[in-house]
Amino acid sequence: MFTSKRNKFTLPPAIVYLNCAYMSPLLKSVEKVGIRAIRKKRNPAMITVDDFFTDTELLRAAYAQLINAPEPRRIVIIPSVSYGMANVVKNLPIKRGEHIIVASEQFPSNYYPWKSLCDDTGAEITVVSPPDGFVNRGKQWNERILETINNKTKAVAIGHVHWADGTRFDLEAIRKRTREVGALLIIDGTQSVGALPFDVQTIQPDALICAGYKWLLGPYSIGLAYYGEFFDNGKPVEENWINRSASEDFAGLVNYKDTYQPGSLRYEVGEHSNFILVPMLLKAIQQLNNWKPDRIQEYCSQLSAPAIDSLKHLGYRIEDANWRGGHLFGIRLPDTVAMEKVKQALLKNKVFVSYRGNAIRVAPNVYNTDNDLRKLVRVLTKFR
Ligand SMILES: Cc1ncc(COP(=O)(O)O)c(C=O)c1O
Repeated sequence: MFTSKRNKFTLPPAIVYLNCAYMSPLLKSVEKVGIRAIRKKRNPAMITVDDFFTDTELLRAAYAQLINAPEPRRIVIIPSVSYGMANVVKNLPIKRGEHIIVASEQFPSNYYPWKSLCDDTGAEITVVSPPDGFVNRGKQWNERILETINNKTKAVAIGHVHWADGTRFDLEAIRKRTREVGALLIIDGTQSVGALPFDVQTIQPDALICAGYKWLLGPYSIGLAYYGEFFDNGKPVEENWINRSASEDFAGLVNYKDTYQPGSLRYEVGEHSNFILVPMLLKAIQQLNNWKPDRIQEYCSQLSAPAIDSLKHLGYRIEDANWRGGHLFGIRLPDTVAMEKVKQALLKNKVFVSYRGNAIRVAPNVYNTDNDLRKLVRVLTKFR
C-alpha cells in the first residue's frame, strides 16, 4: 500500500503544505545529491569530459521511462517552459487565416509565445473559455475545445490539467481531432507530469514541455522537453557547441560541424550539462519512477476525496472528479464568502495553498496526510 512519504522530505511539522502546484519541497535525497554536486567544483580536475554527457543521458533515460517515451534522445534539457515553447514556435509555419487554440487563462509561458507568433504572422490565437456555470463545466469545456478545432487549426497548445483549478483536458480526444485536421498537439505538462500518468505512446504529442520544480520534485531553472518527429529537421532558438555532432571530442571543437547530435538534441539549452541541477533532477525522477505516477495520483485522489465531499456539502464549488486532477483542484467560494478573509484564515492556520483567478488552488502530494486536508476543511467550515 502506498503511504505518506513525509519522512523523505524536511517540511516543517507545523505547516500544512498543499501547494506543490507552486513549488515542490526538496526530497532529502535530492538535497544530498545537490550538495555533493556543489562540492565537486571545489576541484575542477575532478570534472571530466564524460561528466558533460553522462548524467544528461541518464536524465533523458529516467524521464523517458516516466513518460513512456521510446526514444530518450527526443528529450532535451531546458531551463524553463518558455524556452521549450520558443523552440516549438520557431518551427511552426503559420499564416493569416490560420489559428492556434489555447484554453482560457492558460499559464503565460504557454500563451505569450503563441501571441507573439500570431502578432508576427497575422494568424490568430483562439482562446476557448469554459461555460459560466458549474454543472458539467469540465465536460463542456472539453467539448468546446473539440468543436473549435477545424482545418484552419495549426496547433492546440494546452495542459493536461489547467494550472489554476486542475480541470482535466481529454488529450486523447484532442489528439484524435488534431490528427484529423493535421494540427500539432503541444502539451505543457508542468502541472501534471510526475503526479498524473502521461504516456507518450498513447497521447503521441508533438511536443511535451515540462518545468522540473513542481510535480517532478526537482530544483528550479531546469525542465525537460520532448519533441516528436515534426521537429526533426527544425531550427533551434540558439546554436551551441554541445548540440553539434562530435562535440564529445573537445580537441576538435573548432572543426565546425554542419550537423547536429541525433534525435531532438539540437533543441537543448546551452550549458545543459549543469553539474548541479542535472543530478538533482535525475535523483528526483528516479524516485518518481520508483513510486510511479499512477500510485501518486491514486494517493492524492484518495487523500482529497473526503475533503472535497465535505467542502461541496458546505456549498464550495469544485469540479467533478472525472474532469479534474486528484493532485490539483480549485475551490470556488460561495458568493457570501469573502476571498480575502479566507486567505487570512488559512495563513493564520499555516495552511499553504495558492490563489489563482477566482479559485483557491489546492495541490497535495505524497508528503501530505489526511490530517492536512482535514485542517483545510476545518478552516473553511468556519465560513459556513
Ligand atoms: C502550467 C505551467 N507552465 C509553466 C510554468 C512555469 O513556466 P516557466 O518555466 O516558463 O517559468 C508554470 C508555473 O507556475 C505553470 O503552472
